[in-house]
Amino acid sequence: MLFDTHAHLDDEKYVEDQEETIDRARKNGVSYICNIGYNRETIESTLELARRYDFIYAAIGWHPQEAIHMKDADIQWMEELARNEKKVVAIGEIGLDYYWDTSPKEVQLEVFRQQICMAKRLQLPIIIHDREAHQDILTILREEKAEEVGGIMHCFSGSVEMAKECMDLNFYISLAGPVTFKNAHKPKEVAKAVPLDRLLVETDCPYLTPHPFRGKRNESGYVRYIAEEVASLKEVSFEKLAEITTKNAKRVFQLTE
Ligand code: NI
Repeated sequence: MLFDTHAHLDDEKYVEDQEETIDRARKNGVSYICNIGYNRETIESTLELARRYDFIYAAIGWHPQEAIHMKDADIQWMEELARNEKKVVAIGEIGLDYYWDTSPKEVQLEVFRQQICMAKRLQLPIIIHDREAHQDILTILREEKAEEVGGIMHCFSGSVEMAKECMDLNFYISLAGPVTFKNAHKPKEVAKAVPLDRLLVETDCPYLTPHPFRGKRNESGYVRYIAEEVASLKEVSFEKLAEITTKNAKRVFQLTE
């Protein structure tokens, strides 16, 4: 009944208990997972995971932190995979990261634009990583007419105003662990303001662990804590929130079953 729209279950932190972690997610009511590959190595391991489990889907893209390493051949490789692998449901995570600043801004901007164009050729939604780059993200989404494919604002950290602008561009707002933190006023306000039919939940595991496990390793099953918090902010039942966000995720990823 829950859809974790953003996970990294192929991460080295699960090397010893990946299968058990995925089993626990199922026991905690997670029916679907979208795993994210963000460079050569993790795209391969993400696809491997998606081939192994029927309820795990794949998003592939080049992360802004690694933008400097992306070559033209990588774009062609990703495009071919997206065309041929049935489980690829989105391009991402792509975007801008001005916090870590591991790739120059100009390179990040170019790599981001190239991948939006690729997603449009493929007619696949995009998953956006935005760290301290709100204004440039909006500018590029507009300039590249990203609304033609739309997609997901992953672990949304912007304001209510920005959420509205993203929704106008055909994007869904995905909330992660931070919405469960007591002092996280912004994501709580966003959860209240965004209509139910535009909300998604995700873990971004192994990162961004929700309360009450903050500080420990995150896992897909903990998406339940995020959904519980969002349900209480929206003043709806957990069951209803789970049902609607799962339906939303299936709509974004164009899943019919
Ligand atoms: Ni991620």
